[in-house]
Amino acid sequence: MLRPIKLANNKFLSCLDISTEELVHILELAKNLKNRNLNIEYKNKVLGLIFDKSSTRTRVSFQVAMSRLGGTTIDLNPTTSQIGRGEPIKDTARVLSRYCDLIAIRTFNHSDLEEYAKWSTKPVINALTDLEHPCQSLADFLTIKEEFHDFRNVVLTFIGDGNNVAHSLILCGALLGIEVRIACPDKYLPNPSVIQKAREIYKNDSLLKITHDPYTAVNGANVLYTDVWSSMGEENQKDEKDKDFAGFSIDSHLLKKANKDAIVLHCLPAYRNKEITNEVIDCENSRIFEQAENRLHVQQALLSCLLS
Ligand code: CP
Ligand code: NVA
Repeated sequence: MLRPIKLANNKFLSCLDISTEELVHILELAKNLKNRNLNIEYKNKVLGLIFDKSSTRTRVSFQVAMSRLGGTTIDLNPTTSQIGRGEPIKDTARVLSRYCDLIAIRTFNHSDLEEYAKWSTKPVINALTDLEHPCQSLADFLTIKEEFHDFRNVVLTFIGDGNNVAHSLILCGALLGIEVRIACPDKYLPNPSVIQKAREIYKNDSLLKITHDPYTAVNGANVLYTDVWSSMGEENQKDEKDKDFAGFSIDSHLLKKANKDAIVLHCLPAYRNKEITNEVIDCENSRIFEQAENRLHVQQALLSCLLS
């Protein structure tokens, strides 16, 4: 019977913390949890949540996932805890590890997340940093698996900013060996170290493509993905980025150039009629709300593995 497996690195700060086999297992567990074919209980376990940035999906899906496992969450609001006062991460991490069984953190600098993980004696999960959003990628690939059943021959095109969401897609895409194309303006390329790590994982060099032309990138694609052009913390760059990303919206015209059965994904929240048109978010190719639901199932699977 399918059961949670212990993850070798005992943390999930990056997609690079899990192997291909572990990733495939988490997706399979998530699928079974979603279909209610599996019952996993971790009664009385506690997940600590630290969110230095806003969240709807990540926060609520972690809370519901923990509750479905029979555990509970504690939401540490930085403004009402001593985190906002600037208590050193190494002190907070050591104290929280004595109360909680796991800690999920959304923060700005990835190095702060790594500092938490260094001092925590309990598994730490990345709930989004400026570098990666690995829990999002788990949901994205579960949604793709549900649609196409396996990853062979899937072409995933991400159109937009080479940001945290793009980085995790690139790394998970490399672990699964699927073709990933990124179409972005020259100024907004993904982080070179992420590209280099992905290329080291891919057995085939031609599977990761970076281009500046959305139309070339969607030709033959099965999955079209986008995210906001200005991420949290970049609000002051919004006007400039809105100009720089002109021509990089997913609209019906661009969608028609992809495969007929192509699905459209967006991690949400979206700026409707900016990076994606209203019409495309709500069209029949959109799986955006299934994708949002899948955050719950993959995180329940991830928590089960980290608690096992
Ligand atoms: N996609 C995502 O992480 O959404 P939230 O910011 O609402 O958590
Ligand atoms: N790139 C976005 C993702 C939000 C879920 C951000 O970091 O704000």
